Amino acid sequence: MSNLNEETVKSVHHWTDNLFTFTTSRDPGFRYLNGQFVMIGLMVEGKPLLRAYSLASANYEEDLQFFSIKVQNGPLTSRLQHLKPGDKVLVGRKATGTLIQDNLTPGKRLYLLSTGTGLAPFLSVVKDPDAYERFEQIILIHGCRTVAELAYDDYLTKELPNDEYIGEQVKEKLVYYPTVTREPFRNQGRITALIENGKLFTDIGVPPLNPAEDRLMLCGSPAMLKDLVEALEARGFNEGSQSSPAEYVIEKAFVER
Ligand code: A2P
Repeated sequence: MSNLNEETVKSVHHWTDNLFTFTTSRDPGFRYLNGQFVMIGLMVEGKPLLRAYSLASANYEEDLQFFSIKVQNGPLTSRLQHLKPGDKVLVGRKATGTLIQDNLTPGKRLYLLSTGTGLAPFLSVVKDPDAYERFEQIILIHGCRTVAELAYDDYLTKELPNDEYIGEQVKEKLVYYPTVTREPFRNQGRITALIENGKLFTDIGVPPLNPAEDRLMLCGSPAMLKDLVEALEARGFNEGSQSSPAEYVIEKAFVER
């Protein structure tokens, strides 16, 4: 299997019955850009069973980190959720994806809009020193149904701002805005609604979305992406790509696993 490395699970953390994070060893030859994804999986009945997973670890970190849902009858996640330290997982040798900074034209603020496990690629972006060089402010939004699903909330508010390497930039430029839709929380409502009614911008203290200044990366369910893209296009934002960078980029948070 020349296109796959075999890595060793180092740690596993279960956030809820439906969400978990695990880290693995990293092949020294494996390079990627923050925001990219890679195929990962397990050998099942003699064949590799692989799915796309965003890299939640920054590209300068020693280990790889993945943030996953657990689907009880999902071909891969029904197995992955039982991972223990020491187990082996397959990791592709090549990362890819659209959520990369070069696909965006320069701007003032970088919005990272996510729901559910769509947070994963942005965990690497908010640890990227280049992102802080390029933008005056990085606004990370995570929408979930329940408070318990706001995985990484503590990490983003307590640990990352004190990180030895990136902490200063995080303190100065990162705004983290979690929002919950199905129970009480300090921020409530869908990202789409918070954009439409402007609450997001008044809460953060920034002007409403404007294609001259704002750049966005989106990662979530197909429904979330569709609604947000409509809202962005209506405001004059265009989708960027490698050959033609523009104001926003999108990627599906891969769900049925
Ligand atoms: P809601 O609870 O109102 O459905 P899911 O777990 O279904 O992927 O949802 C994760 C979060 O994304 C939930 O807070 C959910 O809100 C929200 N969401 C679902 N569909 C959309 C959409 N079309 N636009 C914006 N947010 C959405």
